[in-house]
Amino acid sequence: MSKKEFAVELNSHVVNLKESATLAINLTARGLRAAGKQVAHFGFGQSPFPVHPKIQIALANNAHQKDYLPTRGLPELCGAISTYYKQFFDYDLNKDLILVGPGSKEMIFQVLYVLEGPVLVPAPSWVSYGPQINLRGKEIEEIITKRDNSYKLQAEELAETCKKYGEGQKILILNNPSNPTGALYTDKEIKDLSEVARKNKVIIISDEIYSLINFSGRDYVGFHKYYPEGTILTSGLSKSHAAGGYRMGFLSLPEGMESVCKCLSAMISETFSAVSAPIQHAALEAYCGDYDLMRYVKQCTKIHKACGEYLHKRFIEMGLNCPKPEGAFYLFPDFGNYKEKLNKRGIKTCSELTRVLLDEHGVALLPGSDFYYPDDHFGCRVATVDYDGSAVYQASLEPLLKPDTKDYVLGDKFVEENCPNLKWGADQIAAFLEKIDG
Ligand SMILES: Cc1ncc(COP(=O)(O)O)c(C=O)c1O
Repeated sequence: MSKKEFAVELNSHVVNLKESATLAINLTARGLRAAGKQVAHFGFGQSPFPVHPKIQIALANNAHQKDYLPTRGLPELCGAISTYYKQFFDYDLNKDLILVGPGSKEMIFQVLYVLEGPVLVPAPSWVSYGPQINLRGKEIEEIITKRDNSYKLQAEELAETCKKYGEGQKILILNNPSNPTGALYTDKEIKDLSEVARKNKVIIISDEIYSLINFSGRDYVGFHKYYPEGTILTSGLSKSHAAGGYRMGFLSLPEGMESVCKCLSAMISETFSAVSAPIQHAALEAYCGDYDLMRYVKQCTKIHKACGEYLHKRFIEMGLNCPKPEGAFYLFPDFGNYKEKLNKRGIKTCSELTRVLLDEHGVALLPGSDFYYPDDHFGCRVATVDYDGSAVYQASLEPLLKPDTKDYVLGDKFVEENCPNLKWGADQIAAFLEKIDG
């Protein structure tokens, strides 16, 4: 019998939604690998390290926790998150205004659902903000940032965009350090943006999912320092604690936004009810400020630094433009210097470029257009995590166990020896550029 399609009527906000670009490239790259093709997987931003054994043990020990937890989250966990953020970031988070969710992605979606007003998004920015806003029946207001500012939103750019919207409430979502660029905002940049936000009635959703992966040498500065009353913080365990699959994130509201808390509690109670109880108990371990756990996060961050700086150096050597990363595990090189040569080969957009690089050279990258950046800029997002996290972590400790290692730094040699896919991928991009040069 031939299959007949049922004439289903679909929600117009959802019908054109594609699968998230990062998840889609992950499937493609894995499929190619399964078929025996060598691939440098620079497309997917998942921390490669194991979840620390202390957290795994806490999870196992709490497998019996089977009761539904309060909608906002386990009260002890909200308390632990508040204490942790005081200790490591000097934030004053009110534990009664923290809501735990199955990943910060869901919490960003829920708060976007609740808040009215235009949503301003610096471009390039994370792929999921746009579709989430579309699901809410709105379009994002992109603010195109400049490479010369390491693609960081400047106060004047925010002020200029605010002018378009007059007096009413606006929302800005800003991820710091940034996916896709690895850029980290300075104290002054955060201060200046805060002033503009306060003047223009802008609520900031501060996506700090990578804030512990900071290798700039400067202290992390968040909007809480200069604009606590207007800042909604989201974060979680996915990146710093390499626990993306645990689906454990949170959102913290400032004093004065109790009405938002009430709406979100109701939304949660009518949608996912509460995050899995064993996971919340395991998260308590992660947020207890344990020394071993913090040392682990720091060591993993050193590896992210080495990999980011290695690829940055390689990209500059091959004539790409690329701001130096200071956090997270991404780079945003652009092939603008090769524009004419690419055009001559019929490659007119960064989407076409990423297709050629995958098909002909086995390098999986995401086009800048997935991050709302103009296609003819030839920007691409590179994730620097294509290695065996467990083995690389062990290798990173070995020199520390020897007596003569006072000046030991994880450098290029370490990356080439232990993360061979990063070297291979960079070699492939260089080979492609040589080919179009000739
Ligand atoms: C910028 C950014 N924000 C938020 C998230 C969501 O993380 P999670 O839902 O795992 O907490 C991600 C994950 O890729 C991300 O890159």
